[in-house]
Amino acid sequence: MYKAMIAGVGHYVPDQVINNFDFEKLMDTSDEWIRERSGIVERRWVKDGENNLDLAEKASLQALEQASMKPEDIDFIIFATLSPDYFFPGTGCLLQERMGSSTIGALDVRNQCSGFIYGLSIADQFIKTGMYKNILLVGSEIQSRGLNMSTEGRDVTVLFGDGAGAVVITRSDDPQKAILTTHLHAEGRHAKELWCEDPGSVRNPRLTHELIDTPNVFPSMNGRYVFKHAVTRFPEVIIEALQAAGVDRSDVDLVIPHQANQRITDAVRMRLELKEEQVYSNIAKYGNTTAASIPIAMSEAIAEGRIKDGSLVCLAAFGSGFTWSSALIRF
Ligand code: UT7
Repeated sequence: MYKAMIAGVGHYVPDQVINNFDFEKLMDTSDEWIRERSGIVERRWVKDGENNLDLAEKASLQALEQASMKPEDIDFIIFATLSPDYFFPGTGCLLQERMGSSTIGALDVRNQCSGFIYGLSIADQFIKTGMYKNILLVGSEIQSRGLNMSTEGRDVTVLFGDGAGAVVITRSDDPQKAILTTHLHAEGRHAKELWCEDPGSVRNPRLTHELIDTPNVFPSMNGRYVFKHAVTRFPEVIIEALQAAGVDRSDVDLVIPHQANQRITDAVRMRLELKEEQVYSNIAKYGNTTAASIPIAMSEAIAEGRIKDGSLVCLAAFGSGFTWSSALIRF
């Protein structure tokens, strides 16, 4: 059995900065409410002409550069997103074409905030079995084009941002340097607590003129309910990873949680009795970028020197589905 390791990480966020005051012009909200309840100060939103594929390509090229690889070295693409450019085909296929990656396979993963870790686990299994040697995994989202910009949608709209992160995962020659363990969970009975109902194939036809004017086409969330589950599942799945790898929480150099809410991150840190420097946060700058949040954070943590050769890093996510997941990686 082979081992898989992270060979390169990259990220890209759009230039346009949307701060909390910008929302005050659109809906009944305030900078104070958004900061206090979420820790978010600003987020990036795309401008017209920039698509999910564009963000993904920029992050991927950076990850390839860090891995000292070219697109033709990649054997397989995994693309995690809940905001694909088209209903179908998946954006993974579009990225394969954009990168000029011959006819390699491209898989889209739809596991929302857990999408990146689900993709990481899939990549890990493919590399362990020897099926592939170099896999490009991307988490990329354009949330801003699917949000309700009125007061009715304020609980969700102020939280989300656009961006992309990518990693190159490769076969490891060093048994110490590897993805040590991954853990994936879902509990579909909570599906409707955080979802986007329409357009969908339960309806016939899928899309009507009337439907376009309903709030059903926007994401909706039972915020307190999601919060309560998140602060339980995050610590649980982190402990699961630590126990599986036989390491203590004090051995972990950095925990990178999915960036959903600063209050969730703080609650998880306190429950696990981790030091502040052991937990990464950049939610103030980018908001919640769903499948992109962990690879963006990982990329910034490497650039800031908070992840170095030999660092033990724990990733964890919780989100719509509900899904939750973790991974422990030795860099
Ligand atoms: O990444 C996927 C996973 N997502 C999450 O993990 C998010 C989990 N949930 C949360 O982060 C929080 O529940 C929120 C940030 C969404 C909301 O914070 P909260 O402290 O749970 O607030 P709340 O939902 O209990 O709402 C408190 C009040 C309500 O008014 P009333 O009923 O007390 O009069 C809301 O209507 O705040 C109101 N409110 C707002 N006020 C100003 C909701 N959104 C806003 C807003 N601006 N944007």
